[in-house]
Amino acid sequence: MNKFQKVPQHVAIIMDGNGRWAQQRSLPRGAGHKAGVTTLRSTVQHCIRREIKVLTVFAFSSENWSRPRHEVDLLMELFLTALRSEVDDLHRNNVRLTFIGNREGFPDKLIKLISSSESKTETNTGLKLVIAANYGGRWEITRACQQIAEAVRQGQLQSAEIDENLMSQYLAFPGIPEPDLLIRTGGEQRISNYLLWHCAYSELYFTDLLWPDFDDTALDTALSWFENRQRRFGRTSEQVGQ
Ligand code: IPE
Ligand code: IPE
Ligand code: MG
Repeated sequence: MNKFQKVPQHVAIIMDGNGRWAQQRSLPRGAGHKAGVTTLRSTVQHCIRREIKVLTVFAFSSENWSRPRHEVDLLMELFLTALRSEVDDLHRNNVRLTFIGNREGFPDKLIKLISSSESKTETNTGLKLVIAANYGGRWEITRACQQIAEAVRQGQLQSAEIDENLMSQYLAFPGIPEPDLLIRTGGEQRISNYLLWHCAYSELYFTDLLWPDFDDTALDTALSWFENRQRRFGRTSEQVGQ
């Protein structure tokens, strides 16, 4: 049984703080990223336990290409090894894995592995795990605008038909609830170009814990905080309380 009465359907996480976690231990930053993968594995298990339907995690932003070359290479290598070693387990756990972001930027081996992992887990009905990789909110919105403009140019769409609902169809998560809860670890209180469209009404939760230290108890603390939020969507508390 779930210990929470009101659980977010969709949780989004900005997994920040791997580098500082490693620095605190006089380890190379890569050790922090590796520890971060372990944390993600246990977070997925805990989301399943808490009956969360969708978990979207920020793994690599469009801006992270600006990091030193060796860190970018290391992250690409880590995606590859982590995905290879985790996909069978995720599949056994009935997890459906999907990726958002511009995968064209990735090495060929990784692009193939992303596609095969998506196909392998496509019909799973449990937790939907969305990995945002080479993702940027502005990139996503810009790409949607290009696709909509092209549809108008080809006469498939009238410009008067463009509304928020149509925009959503061209963005990530069509038909899926938008994130109810956005968690950022690592102490910074910013969005860093994550899910700009989809987080319009998400509850924002910031914690100083560095991502590798974010454990089941920490997730429960965030879920408990969420349970006490009154989501008004522009209305008054009296209206919502009814
Ligand atoms: C987040 O941790 C992981 C990625 C951005 C890939 P960081 O690497 O940003 O860790 P800090 O913020 O430097 O501690
Ligand atoms: C955001 O973290 C991106 C990911 C967690 C993948 P960053 O560490 O890149 O964000 P900034 O640069 O501090 O805003
Ligand atoms: Mg960071």
